[in-house]
Amino acid sequence: MGSLFSSAITLRNSVRISDDEFTQLRDFIYDKCGIFVDAKRKYLFESRFSKRLAELGLSSFSDYIKFLKHDIRRNSEMNVLFELVTTNETSFYRDTRQLDAFRDNVLRETLEKRRSEGKLDLHIWSAGCSSGEEPYTLSILLHEMLGPEIARWRIRITAVDLSPQVIERARRGVYREYAFKTTPDQARDRYFTPHEEGWKIRPELGRLISFQTMNLNDPLALKRVPRSHIVFCRNVIIYFDEAMKKRVAKAFYDNLLPGGYLMLGHSETLHKISSAFQPVYLPGSIAYRKEE
Ligand SMILES: C[S@@+](CC[C@H](N)C(=O)[O-])C[C@H]1O[C@@H](n2cnc3c(N)ncnc32)[C@H](O)[C@@H]1O
Repeated sequence: MGSLFSSAITLRNSVRISDDEFTQLRDFIYDKCGIFVDAKRKYLFESRFSKRLAELGLSSFSDYIKFLKHDIRRNSEMNVLFELVTTNETSFYRDTRQLDAFRDNVLRETLEKRRSEGKLDLHIWSAGCSSGEEPYTLSILLHEMLGPEIARWRIRITAVDLSPQVIERARRGVYREYAFKTTPDQARDRYFTPHEEGWKIRPELGRLISFQTMNLNDPLALKRVPRSHIVFCRNVIIYFDEAMKKRVAKAFYDNLLPGGYLMLGHSETLHKISSAFQPVYLPGSIAYRKEE
């Protein structure tokens, strides 16, 4: 009964979007952040933006598009827009099988190589890190692999996302039960402390990570990221069209140091996107390696 009632309200308050308005808004979003919304998902704009239009006192998508292009508040509105078009779904230890294979192969090999070169430094870039679960998981893996030796290493994880809101949540490091749905219980008890709103990440895990708001569609920002031994970009390029996927893959390639690795999400591939990397087949996943 309750849900029927609320969907009636939603329908009544929903602002209809014409085909032309949809194309204009879709192109605007693509131009700003590379996210491509397929025409089949037009209804998403109606359901996600109607409340925002009401908050701004606008009665049509044409008015909202004018607002985005010309209003004095257009720059700050961009963050609201990004929030509305992104999907921030994530969790600690997401895709455990891939993470195990990554740890036992890519990470082990990379750490051994740095040791053999006598250079105890490591840079990992987590691109599209959402609210921080992915980079914090990487920090946990590094602490477990290195143990007390970690004190002798200079490790930096640069974790970036388009949405300032999720970056703020990541910096705060407080998580509810949902974030642990793929996490072994003993990991939660060991690396988090109880908090009135859930669980808070232990400070030593955060010390390796630098969180920043960054748009992967901004070539100058991408060039400022320090060269990486490993790039994680999981479940992000799935929202991009082919041209944007190619630009981002090229940026990761340029950023990686020789012999470095790119890790994508389990449903993502570089097939038809980039032939620059060498695919390395791991149990349950593929790592993409840049030549030495
Ligand atoms: C589904 S989450 C994936 C989070 C994490 N990598 C994981 O696999 O659990 C996708 C993230 O990519 C971010 N994103 C999408 N487009 C982006 C862009 N152009 N620049 C930076 N981040 C972007 C979104 O804000 C969102 O937080």
